[in-house]
Amino acid sequence: MSKILISIENLSKIYDEHTIALKEINLKIKSGEWTSIIGPSGSGKTTLLNMVSCLDRPSSGLISIDGKNISNLSRTELTRFRREKIGLIFQQHYLVPYLTALENVLLPMYYNGDVQEDFAIQILNRVGMGHRLHSIPTKLSGGEQQRVCIARSMINKPQILIADEPTGNLDQKNGKKVLNLIKDLHDEGNAILLVTHNLEIAKLGDSILEIVDGKISSKNGRS
Ligand SMILES: Nc1ncnc2c1ncn2[C@@H]1O[C@H](COP(=O)(O)OP(=O)(O)OP(=O)(O)O)[C@@H](O)[C@H]1O
Ligand SMILES: [Mg+2]
Repeated sequence: MSKILISIENLSKIYDEHTIALKEINLKIKSGEWTSIIGPSGSGKTTLLNMVSCLDRPSSGLISIDGKNISNLSRTELTRFRREKIGLIFQQHYLVPYLTALENVLLPMYYNGDVQEDFAIQILNRVGMGHRLHSIPTKLSGGEQQRVCIARSMINKPQILIADEPTGNLDQKNGKKVLNLIKDLHDEGNAILLVTHNLEIAKLGDSILEIVDGKISSKNGRS
């Protein structure tokens, strides 16, 4: 039996004192498990991903990842924890504007002190960006920038990949390439937390979690 990797207890998030985005969420995710998250717009999906990826703090409740209570970590500790464990593919991408595609992908490796340019080029090839290695973000289309972000999120082989509509801006062919990369990461034993409005993509997961109005309304699947 695989161990619990992410444990969420009574997690609530209230914005601006009155918008209750998440209401007492309880959830356990095993290591290596792919959980797809679906639900209407505004139901709290991105908010949940923000909490788990340590980008924002809960109003109340507990999140522990790999046995570590992340609510107690300082900002610096959170940043390091995220860099070591979590790959992020988010709706807004944050590429460094003055670095090339290749340099952006290499950046997380620099922080970890282990730069493998060949591997970065290999991943950029796999997202269909091998021909634009030396372009800066403003010279790339939105979907191309997203693919660079996806390559960057995978460069340190994260134990947890957190993805918010990762194929949302992509055409079918490139969407497929990205999904194949996510599948590979899952096959290598890493956990995936993926928000999608596409039920076919959601079904690729081990389980499907539905969030409605800030609460888990159902969880189906093999785990
Ligand atoms: N930074 C914020 N400040 C105030 N309210 C916010 C903030 N972020 C989200 N909200 C509100 O919290 C609720 C949940 O938003 P969230 O972004 O989690 O929805 P979502 O399920 O990801 O929707 P979508 O499918 O449209 O991306 C919404 O009512 C939203 O308006
Ligand atoms: Mg969202």
